[in-house]
Amino acid sequence: MSDPTMSAPAVPPSTVVLVSGGSRGLGLAIVTDLLDAGLRVAAFARTVTPELAKLADTHPGRTHVGSVDVTDLAAVQAFVRAAEQHLGPIDGLVNNAAVGQDSLHVHTATADLAGIVETNLTAPLQLTRLVVRRMLAQGRRGRIVNITSICGQRGFPGLVAYSATKGGMDAATRSLARELGGRVLVNAVAPGFFASEMSAVLGRTQLDQIVRRTPTGHLTEPDEVLPVVRMLLREQTNINGQVLVVDGAASI
Ligand SMILES: NC(=O)c1ccc[n+]([C@@H]2O[C@H](COP(=O)([O-])OP(=O)(O)OC[C@H]3O[C@@H](n4cnc5c(N)ncnc54)[C@H](OP(=O)(O)O)[C@@H]3O)[C@@H](O)[C@H]2O)c1
Repeated sequence: MSDPTMSAPAVPPSTVVLVSGGSRGLGLAIVTDLLDAGLRVAAFARTVTPELAKLADTHPGRTHVGSVDVTDLAAVQAFVRAAEQHLGPIDGLVNNAAVGQDSLHVHTATADLAGIVETNLTAPLQLTRLVVRRMLAQGRRGRIVNITSICGQRGFPGLVAYSATKGGMDAATRSLARELGGRVLVNAVAPGFFASEMSAVLGRTQLDQIVRRTPTGHLTEPDEVLPVVRMLLREQTNINGQVLVVDGAASI
């Protein structure tokens, strides 16, 4: 039993970060931001977009990218091993890859429901287990940032299964932070709606309604999420097991 009066050494800032779903949208913005900050970054998605390939070409020694489905555990394992050979041990993980939803629960087919849960909940839990096992086996410390959503805390029609996965990741964030005893800091960032391929299904009326409900008067921008993710990966804070909402108080 560890002595509860002994403080654990601080978790150092991450230097090698794995970003899932780094090919477009918020994930691509996170990859770009971390490279700009001088970090080494591994990123995958099912398709490597020209934008992600260009980043890899621009920073060949500091970037490792690949075409991987997050639900394919063997492919994810192979990618993590190759990324560590190229960049060094991973000490930061951003679970960003996810699929959206645009169907009322009563109209959502069983296969679609299972796909959302597998991609947004089971796969990030498996990726997290893989990365944390490697960190602990090598006696390293690290940081994990789960990109969840305001949908994990507030209700939105058409997003029932999606919301369940995001609420699930918020809950996992708290329990994992406890389980890892301060050796790995585990937090979540829950953005409000922002423009991307995922949110393109929202109509003008829905977007206007969200803006009207937002005291800051605009939809969240990916650029407004980046400093929060970077802070959780890089800064010396005692933030652990938290879900940080970035939505201009739309949900308050
Ligand atoms: N957009 C919003 O309004 C909003 C609001 C709150 C939270 N979020 C969250 O923010 C994160 C990023 O969302 P976004 O809006 O930037 O979405 P996006 O533009 O649709 O990007 C999603 C990323 O995940 C990847 N991805 C999806 N399924 C994958 C799979 N099976 N294996 C590997 N990669 C996969 C996609 O690449 P491929 O399709 O090529 O695999 C892409 O790189 C997500 O976690 C989302 O839930 C979004």
